[in-house]
Amino acid sequence: MARHLITSAIPYINGIKHLGNLVGSQLPADLYARYLRGRGNEVLFLCATDEHGTPAELAAAKAGKPVAEYCAEMHEVQAGIAEGFRLSFDHFGRSSSARNHALTQHFAGVLAEKGLIREVSETQMYSPTDGRYLPDRYIEGTCPNCGFDSARGDQCDNCTKQLDPVDLINPHSTISGATDLEMRETKHLYLCQSVMKAEIEAWIDSKTDWPVLTTSIAKKWLNDGDGLQDRGITRDLDWGIPVKKGDADWPGMEGKVFYVWFDAPIEYIACAQEWVDAGKGEDWARWWRTDKGAQDVTYTQFMGKDNVPFHTLTFPATILGSGEPWKLVDYIKSFNYLNYEGGQFSTSRGRGVFMDQALEVLPSDYWRWWLLSHAPESSDAEFTWENFQASVNKDLADVLGNFVSRVTKFCRSKFGEVVPEGGAHGAAEEALIAELSDRVRRYETLMDAMEVRKSAQELRAIWAAGNEYLQSAAPWAVFKEDPAQAAAIVRLSLNLIRLYAVLSAPFIPDTAAVLKEALKLDGLDWPGDLPEALSALSAGAEFSVPENLFRKITDEEREDWQKRFSGKRD
Ligand code: 2FM
Ligand code: ZN
Repeated sequence: MARHLITSAIPYINGIKHLGNLVGSQLPADLYARYLRGRGNEVLFLCATDEHGTPAELAAAKAGKPVAEYCAEMHEVQAGIAEGFRLSFDHFGRSSSARNHALTQHFAGVLAEKGLIREVSETQMYSPTDGRYLPDRYIEGTCPNCGFDSARGDQCDNCTKQLDPVDLINPHSTISGATDLEMRETKHLYLCQSVMKAEIEAWIDSKTDWPVLTTSIAKKWLNDGDGLQDRGITRDLDWGIPVKKGDADWPGMEGKVFYVWFDAPIEYIACAQEWVDAGKGEDWARWWRTDKGAQDVTYTQFMGKDNVPFHTLTFPATILGSGEPWKLVDYIKSFNYLNYEGGQFSTSRGRGVFMDQALEVLPSDYWRWWLLSHAPESSDAEFTWENFQASVNKDLADVLGNFVSRVTKFCRSKFGEVVPEGGAHGAAEEALIAELSDRVRRYETLMDAMEVRKSAQELRAIWAAGNEYLQSAAPWAVFKEDPAQAAAIVRLSLNLIRLYAVLSAPFIPDTAAVLKEALKLDGLDWPGDLPEALSALSAGAEFSVPENLFRKITDEEREDWQKRFSGKRD
């Protein structure tokens, strides 16, 4: 049994995420985790809330709450919504955990010992109006790279360039709007990434199977301008992980915390420790330490494209620089952006559909199916209500739902709620089984390769093949002349439902569970040999007709939702 460690980029704590965030990391990570588990692998799937940095402080201030209290509450909210979307994390941790504090301080201490951290006296934006320094998101302005007018102090959300607040054109404080900013002298720690450039580049060059999106972004930051730059890893903020060298104080760094992007990826490791602390696992080291068994683990990370520089450069610099036997990522699956009705999804502007709102409107499988089958892999993708309605109505209701309903109801009316005794397979059945054998193997290949959209297409084709078979075999017509032949068709069709339950589970887990229950199945193994898998339900086995699996979205609903989600979320 192979062992797979899977992490999704950890969402910022500042509020509920939109569907673009979901499809860019957590949802495809869940798809992959469910698939690998379904195929009998040992999987550890981790995610957490990213609780430090200016996004957390700003959101807490807006909510009028102390940051710690705000984070604790929002963590629970995000955990509940993740459950609503059936995200099957083995643990959903918190980057503010004691484990992450200790581990982050440990890494800083080790990196300092290795000479990979230097102290830099620098000038920083200070706002006399606000009486404080303005790191990262406390400052906004125009991006010097692409001209986007709401670029933040640490990164431009439009072109993904990592920035320094001093780079911004026309900067202003996001707290007060003040523009009378001045530069003041302060001391910070820098991670010496530049001296590790050759090592990191060689490592990235060795990853010839990575998606082009991942390697092209990594290469861009390695080689653009002066190449890989040293990065500031401390900030003048109250909330965060205090700057220490392991357990020891760091003279001159009193009152400062680590930069959120330094401690956030370390939470991937701390999260495994939290998983053990929560009593869900026994040994985190066998997943994370290559001297303790993690050399046998395949580690895959999922993230949106804006996160790629931190995962291909900064975090590997932390891991490699430590010289300690930590597990490095094996594969980075990254995603483009999902747009919303001709514009961008935006948390700060409240534009688009947010995860809690989506679940108020329809069950999670409807969203999972649309989002995954339209995942922004090779380019940005766009959510429109028309497209959502069309996909749900066609793929889920007309193809899968209709097939299950017709087969189970026809069987009940002619043979009762038991799998009928059937005759031998004819040419049509043999042809269907041969087609499905090919398609299932192709589906596996695509899922192994994390080709999300193409996997969805193949799954849809597998559903459609059953539908087409049923339509042309027409057991309702055959029954009049040859009930035994009709019974054979129905029996194969019921077996197809069983096959669909197992194959579809990574995409639409709730529906798969309904099918499994309707067929009264205990376990559900991944199909090996298809002829065998399609005769697994034997004559006499009982089933029950499931409730209508999917309902269609009406034009009125679509128009109503289009209106309801056109404005700004409060
Ligand atoms: O972009 C984001 O939402 C970040 N919070 C992702 C962090 S991923 C990691 F490094 F922990
Ligand atoms: Zn930009």
